[in-house]
Amino acid sequence: MEETAGPKKSVRRRADAIKAFRCKNLIAVLENPNDMKNVGTVIRNVNALGVEKVYVVDPRRSLADDWQELRTRKGISDTSVSAVKWTFVKRFDSTDECFDHLEKLHFRSIVTSPHVKGKTSIFLHEGDYTTHAKLAVWFGSEATGISDRAIERAETCVTIPMFGMIESLNLGTSSGIVLYEIAKQRRDYQARFRWRDQRGERSTPLPTVIGPRA
Ligand SMILES: C[S@@+](CC[C@H](N)C(=O)[O-])C[C@H]1O[C@@H](n2cnc3c(N)ncnc32)[C@H](O)[C@@H]1O
Repeated sequence: MEETAGPKKSVRRRADAIKAFRCKNLIAVLENPNDMKNVGTVIRNVNALGVEKVYVVDPRRSLADDWQELRTRKGISDTSVSAVKWTFVKRFDSTDECFDHLEKLHFRSIVTSPHVKGKTSIFLHEGDYTTHAKLAVWFGSEATGISDRAIERAETCVTIPMFGMIESLNLGTSSGIVLYEIAKQRRDYQARFRWRDQRGERSTPLPTVIGPRA
């Protein structure tokens, strides 16, 4: 009894401590990923950066429908270093099905690409990612990138500036960079305002960082 009470308690303590730092209503969407290792890396990034959920457009049905099964299946669990245990992941059969679901819940979408795409294209550091209460950030597939359909249904395309000879960053790496910036901005917003329309400014902002673990 003594042996299990300790670790369980410390897990509960950590879960309570990080709760206020989670970015509410921020979802990362992976469109048609080929490599399950990348899916695991994105789930790890999402968990570590305090993003709320991961949606996966998975027409090849590489993932389990059932979250419980997904959490216990070896591949994803290993590559996400168990982050999948603590992260909500939902799969969809198609890009349109995922957009329909997001729009029904009043989420706005932005896509990411190393190329200029769609109606509005911005560099990551130029964006204000706090203007929409509910935001979904889409990442494209390793080989073909974000689809034309996703670009059509999203409002902005975000690019991480590239300074090398290669065309793009890896999916896991780019998700880490993009989500870091967006989560940082949204956490800062949540710390200052109680509501999405900038009413309810707190007299003392909440902390935006949590100390490193001992
Ligand atoms: C390996 S890249 C895909 C490369 C593909 N040839 C293309 O045209 O997009 C996989 C995904 O990572 C993201 N990504 C990679 N580099 C990026 C960058 N510089 N800016 C924004 N997103 C990037 C995008 O979501 C992209 O769809």
